[in-house]
Amino acid sequence: MTIEQYLVDKKYRVEAKLGEILLNGENASRLERAMYYAVMNGGKRLRPILAYAAAEALGAEADCADIAACSIECIHAYSLIHDDLPAMDDDNLRRGKPTCHIQFDEATAILAGDALQSLAFELLCDARQQQITENLQLRMLQVLTKAVGRHGMVAGQSIDFYGTGLTITEEDLAIMHGLKTGALISASIMLGAMSTGKADILELDCLGEYAKALGLAYQVKDDILDVEGDTAVIGKQHGKDEALGKITYPTLLGIEGARDKAISLCDKAISVLDIFGSSADPLRELASYVIKRNF
Ligand code: IPE
Ligand code: IPE
Ligand code: MG
Ligand code: MG
Ligand code: MG
Repeated sequence: MTIEQYLVDKKYRVEAKLGEILLNGENASRLERAMYYAVMNGGKRLRPILAYAAAEALGAEADCADIAACSIECIHAYSLIHDDLPAMDDDNLRRGKPTCHIQFDEATAILAGDALQSLAFELLCDARQQQITENLQLRMLQVLTKAVGRHGMVAGQSIDFYGTGLTITEEDLAIMHGLKTGALISASIMLGAMSTGKADILELDCLGEYAKALGLAYQVKDDILDVEGDTAVIGKQHGKDEALGKITYPTLLGIEGARDKAISLCDKAISVLDIFGSSADPLRELASYVIKRNF
């Protein structure tokens, strides 16, 4: 299977599962419809795909990571709804469509984000669907809660928001990106691996190193696309970072410097996978995809 086929296959897989969980249509409440809209309105589904690829790297079938994949995508969709709000990045376009607060209203968008966040935890708590011990399930919950809160994604968003306009170093920027984007990407890979029930410490450590490099590369590329991308292709307004005065890798290192940074992070991610055999090829290919993508 080529990486393109792999991406499509896993995207359909998680979308089918999410479609079974979320409600839409006449009988769904406005809140439910907003949640459905924010999750099902497109998206590359990179985080679920990484969860599946991490499970496969350990020799497991992808389906053991279904719950983790859905849970993570709910958190991601919530983070985008809130990121786009007028009080934050104030964006009207997401995945080529009106942002949730434009399509519905601001209060509904805030609530849909809140409800998607709790849904993510509800899914991971649903032991009936998982073939893992309660102890492992608790550890998975700990990984996700830590990744998304005050020491993870929300902390990163807060630094992004309050750091706007300040002078920051490359080290500060790496910390911010690592939190706002890297933490959830790392959690995706960790949860995918843990959902197999057979990841050992060395494997988890290597996957953690891979995730750290890949998560940062992902946001570096996101920053590059904000400068170079075409609004119609990236599905969101290009040039927003500059308009909002955000410090990004292109502003700090220049566009070439940012590109070099993304390449070296991708190489690093691939190199730490050496303990795995060909079962980790999707993870290797995904690292290259992350920096080559044009949306
Ligand atoms: C956008 O994430 C926000 C970042 C954290 C970089 P994605 O680029 O993964 O967005 P979708 O889900 O594919 O739309
Ligand atoms: C968003 O970063 C990070 C999170 C949602 C946690 P950006 O603000 O750069 O994402 P885009 O560019 O709007 O997708
Ligand atoms: Mg933002
Ligand atoms: Mg944004
Ligand atoms: Mg961005």
